[in-house]
Amino acid sequence: MTDASGLRGKSVALIGAGNMGLALLEGWAAQDLLGAVSIVEPQPSQRLQELCAAQGYALNGAAAPCDAVVLAVKPQALDAGAAAAAPFVAGGAVVVSILAGKRIADLAARLPTQAVVRAMPNTPAAIGRGVTGAFASAATSAAQRGLSDALLSAVGGVEWVDDEALIDVVTAVSGSGPAYVFYFAECLAAAGAEAGLPAALAARLARATVEGAGELMRRQPETGPDELRRRVTSPGGTTAAALEVLEAPDGLAALMRRAVAAAKRRAGELSG
Ligand SMILES: NC(=O)c1ccc[n+]([C@@H]2O[C@H](COP(=O)([O-])OP(=O)(O)OC[C@H]3O[C@@H](n4cnc5c(N)ncnc54)[C@H](OP(=O)(O)O)[C@@H]3O)[C@@H](O)[C@H]2O)c1
Repeated sequence: MTDASGLRGKSVALIGAGNMGLALLEGWAAQDLLGAVSIVEPQPSQRLQELCAAQGYALNGAAAPCDAVVLAVKPQALDAGAAAAAPFVAGGAVVVSILAGKRIADLAARLPTQAVVRAMPNTPAAIGRGVTGAFASAATSAAQRGLSDALLSAVGGVEWVDDEALIDVVTAVSGSGPAYVFYFAECLAAAGAEAGLPAALAARLARATVEGAGELMRRQPETGPDELRRRVTSPGGTTAAALEVLEAPDGLAALMRRAVAAAKRRAGELSG
């Protein structure tokens, strides 16, 4: 995670506190460094109300200029969300949008600032283990980018790209990526069942394997997945036999290339 002290004493408004907005809020609350926090949310959940009461966050109160405004409404609610954000932006705030498919130009056209960060988180953010790809407009200062980084880091890692078009690729890799991994676990379980295991047992084995392998990778950040793979692949052994299939010209690499290309293409179509 990035240096969390970038949050100390900063004032932030969150527009939309559904799944992703609430995850961010939980992350900020855990660090307990922010100054004033304001939330605009038409249908506050029980959890949101409890968190606001416990942390002294202002829920649906009066708007005042902030250092940063995080926009976390559904993309189709951009117009209303931007209108709700505007009074918090007035003093020169940076706006951090996590709206899928909404470009910097779409956002800046609706907001009284050009300092806009476009970010794409993923669902493990809900447990503080997400990864977010982000792009900052040219009008965003280094300090504003630092604050945006610290805010997004509350739910996992943050990776910056220097070309907005790459956000579509980020979407195709890490935004949609958790679903690929879940599907991998499903396919592994199905193959195990076909090979003779009881279906429920195959599902448990596949699930635990994905969980454990992910955790092993997390605990060895200096070791690439290729090296981890080699370490468990004895020449002529069982893993090698399976990898020969996966590494075939029409194997997993080719499939992933096509899957990521399809997601990237769709992200481009949905933008705007
Ligand atoms: N979930 C993910 O994995 C993920 C990943 C990457 C990006 N995103 C992006 O994150 C954004 C939020 O997704 P989500 O899953 O958190 O959606 P969500 O649970 O529907 O949350 C959006 C929240 O914003 C509220 N809202 C709607 N209009 C508003 C307004 N004018 N002012 C203030 N609040 C308003 C909604 O209230 P109502 O229920 O009353 O409409 C809802 O509580 C989306 O743009 C999505 O593309 C999500």
